[in-house]
Amino acid sequence: MRKIPNNGNLKMTKVAYPLGLFVCLFIYVAYIKWHWASATQAFFSITEAATGARRVPQTRSPPGTAAHDHEVFYGIMFDAGSTGTRVHIFQFSRQPGEMPTLTHETFKALKPGLSAYADDVEKSTPGIQELLDVAKQDIPFDFWKDTPLVLKATAGLRLLPGEKAQKLLQKVKEVFKASPFLVGDDCVSIMNGTDEGVSAWITVNFLTGSLKTPGRSSVGMLDLGGGSTQITFLPRVEGTLQSSPPGYLTSLQMFNRTYKLYSYSYLGLGLMSARLAILGGVEGKPAVDLHELCADRVSEVLRDKVHRTEEVKDVDFHAFSYYYDLAATVGLIDAEKGGSLVVGDFEIAAKYETRPQSNPFVCMDLTYISLLLQEFGFPGNKVLKLTRKINNVETSWALGAIFHYIDSLNRQKSPAS
Ligand SMILES: *[C@@H]1O[C@H](CO)[C@@H](O)[C@H](O)[C@H]1NC(C)=O
Ligand SMILES: *[C@@H]1O[C@H](CO)[C@@H](O)[C@H](O)[C@H]1NC(C)=O
Repeated sequence: MRKIPNNGNLKMTKVAYPLGLFVCLFIYVAYIKWHWASATQAFFSITEAATGARRVPQTRSPPGTAAHDHEVFYGIMFDAGSTGTRVHIFQFSRQPGEMPTLTHETFKALKPGLSAYADDVEKSTPGIQELLDVAKQDIPFDFWKDTPLVLKATAGLRLLPGEKAQKLLQKVKEVFKASPFLVGDDCVSIMNGTDEGVSAWITVNFLTGSLKTPGRSSVGMLDLGGGSTQITFLPRVEGTLQSSPPGYLTSLQMFNRTYKLYSYSYLGLGLMSARLAILGGVEGKPAVDLHELCADRVSEVLRDKVHRTEEVKDVDFHAFSYYYDLAATVGLIDAEKGGSLVVGDFEIAAKYETRPQSNPFVCMDLTYISLLLQEFGFPGNKVLKLTRKINNVETSWALGAIFHYIDSLNRQKSPAS
């Protein structure tokens, strides 16, 4: 569970409250809850059940006490990944006509992933219920019926045979429909790589504030997973749009604007799948030097696979996942805080990495990253930002996906705007 900085209003309250008052407030809240309990037995059992998640009462903005004209709302996103299912409960605050801000996030994860229940879908229910209980505990009762509830599945379900995946999703949908939250017909789905890249792009630009100020330059997003790699950015020049192959462009409507994004997910060019491909044909060439051997093999693996755009030079990029992990492993950035580097640093690190024992793949991985970035069109002196968190919020696609979902609900409500 993470706390994020509040807006100024709430922060001042937090500083000004003496501890004693806070304790009183806590007892008061507990008392109110106890009262609710006698009235609604169900609610009580729910709050009892979700012992895994802790609340952070001082960061919350209870209904009715928010400043007169700002509106608080919530969104619940289930991230159904290959190894586990995670619930993110986002609290937003919005002034009329302005871009909402994120004021709080709670998350909880459960293992294993949904795909583990492919042969017995009933068994997936208790886990989903447990995570729904966390949401019920976190979101004030009055907000339940207006809070959208969505599940998006990634790699694990994409790999299941279609029929099994659909059965699982149908089961989740039943459980969702029986919950008190706002559940649409599109509440569960499997994302493809482009959806994931675009959602992560929204997250990054929402958190850096560039969606809020239309004149401000947006940032691009580079992600390197195990099985695939994604690149998403907003081209500045129309020419990029015209010269791109059709599958590389996607139109995104959000907050009264249309973004024409360049976004592509390369299946099979994730770090783990690249390792397999690279190791698949190492024999047959005399090893002059390890890095050179790597570079030759990596070049073969990447040949003619990546679409190159000159315009990546002009956009600021944030890079995540294995880009971050590798840079941290060899000390190019701080493992906790992240940092900036230039693309060429990956190649230098690959040449001088002298600790093959600690991780035999480091040299190969760095070489792969270095050449992949060059194939995308990044020059060696291009600065990349490596971040895990922006404004202390972890950057995952889940925030962007729920934000976009809520925005499209609002658009359906008032198609005129
Ligand atoms: C990914 O899915 C979206 C719908 O969620 C669809 O519009 C898009 O065309 C798909 N992209 C690819 C590359 O399959
Ligand atoms: C949306 O954009 C249109 C055209 O740019 C503008 O007239 C309208 O006021 C905007 N609506 C909102 C809610 O910002």
